[in-house]
Amino acid sequence: MTDPFIDLRSDTVTRPTPAMRRAMFEAEVGDDVYGEDPTVNRLEARAAEVCGKEAALFVPTGTMGNTIAVKCLTSHGQEVICDARGHLLNYELSMTAWFAGCLIRSIHTSGGILTWQQIEKEIRPLGPHAADTGLIELENTHNMAGGTVYPQDVLDDICHRAHQRGIRVHIDGARIFNAAAALNQPVSRICAHADTVMFCLSKALGAPAGSMLAGPRPVIDRARLYRKRLGGGMRQSGILAAAGLIALDEMPALLPRDHSNARFLAAGLAAIPGISVPPEPPQTNIVIFDVSATGRTGPEISQALKQRGVLLNAISPAAMRAVTHCDVSRAQCQTALETLAATLS
Ligand SMILES: Cc1ncc(COP(=O)(O)O)c(C=O)c1O
Repeated sequence: MTDPFIDLRSDTVTRPTPAMRRAMFEAEVGDDVYGEDPTVNRLEARAAEVCGKEAALFVPTGTMGNTIAVKCLTSHGQEVICDARGHLLNYELSMTAWFAGCLIRSIHTSGGILTWQQIEKEIRPLGPHAADTGLIELENTHNMAGGTVYPQDVLDDICHRAHQRGIRVHIDGARIFNAAAALNQPVSRICAHADTVMFCLSKALGAPAGSMLAGPRPVIDRARLYRKRLGGGMRQSGILAAAGLIALDEMPALLPRDHSNARFLAAGLAAIPGISVPPEPPQTNIVIFDVSATGRTGPEISQALKQRGVLLNAISPAAMRAVTHCDVSRAQCQTALETLAATLS
C-alpha cells in the first residue's frame, strides 16, 4: 500500500518491513509471563549481547523501559539528574516522580550533551536540607536537541566519575543505533560503562512496537517484576519480538542512509528564505529548524503542508522538526523541500 503522505513527523511512524511481517506470521510463541516464549527469549538474549550487558528485558515502550530503569537504580526520594530538554523530564508524564518517587534536577546544556563539570555542581549529598543524587540519565541520541550524539569520552567520563561517587547511570538510548552509526562504533562500546540502557525497536529500526532494557542480571530480574506491575506482561509477545529480531539484525545497516537524507534536508532547508538551520549539519536523523523569519508559525506551516501531502511537526511556534527514517526516500525529501518552499512563497 502506498502512503499518500510524505511523513517526516517522527521515526515512530515506520511500518514493519515485509521480512518483519513474515517473521511475525511464522513466530514460535509461548506465554512470556511464564518465561516460555522462545522468540522473546531469543530477542532478550540478542539484545543483551548487542548491548554488552548480562541480560535484557522486552518492554512495550521506551517510556516503560525508562520508568523501570529509574525505579531499579534509585531509592524513593532521591534526585535524578538529566538534561533540561530530556525526554524523561518533558514527555514521560512525570513517571520519575509518579513511579520511582524521585525528583528530576535538570541542567541546561548546549546540544543536549551533559558534561561531568556541569553535573558535579548539581550533585547533592543527603543532608538535613537536601535529598541525595541517585542517578544520572543521559539521552543518546538527544531527540529535542536535534539527534545529537554524546562524544564517547564525555559519556565514559560521566560514567566513571558517577560510579566513584556511588551514583548510577542510565542511557535513554531510544535511538542508540543512530548514535552507533554516527560514531561507527558498536552499541556495546557506547554503553559499556553505563549501568543500564534502554533502546527502541519501534523507531528508526522499524519494528511495529517494543523497546529493550539491558543491564546487570539482578537489575533486569527486578525490572521484570516492575514490568508486570505496570501491566507490561504481554503473554504471546513473540509475535512482536520476531519483528524486533529483524529490526536488531537487519535495520542498523540502513541508518547511514537516513542520516545522509537528514543532511540533505538540512542543506535544502537552509536555502529556503526565512528558514534557519543550525550551523553544524545533523549528526543523525533529526533536523530541527527555525521558521520565525518566515512570518508564519510552525503550527500554521505544519497545517499548510498537510494539505499538500507532507507531514511535518512544529515543536514550538518558532521551530519545526523533521525526522528521516526507512520509509522516506531521498526523492521524497526533495519533494518535501519543494513543497515547503512553495508553501512559504
Ligand atoms: C529519546 C526518547 N526516549 C524515550 C522515548 C519514549 O518511547 P515510547 O514512545 O516508545 O514510549 C522517546 C519517544 O519518542 C524518545 O524520543
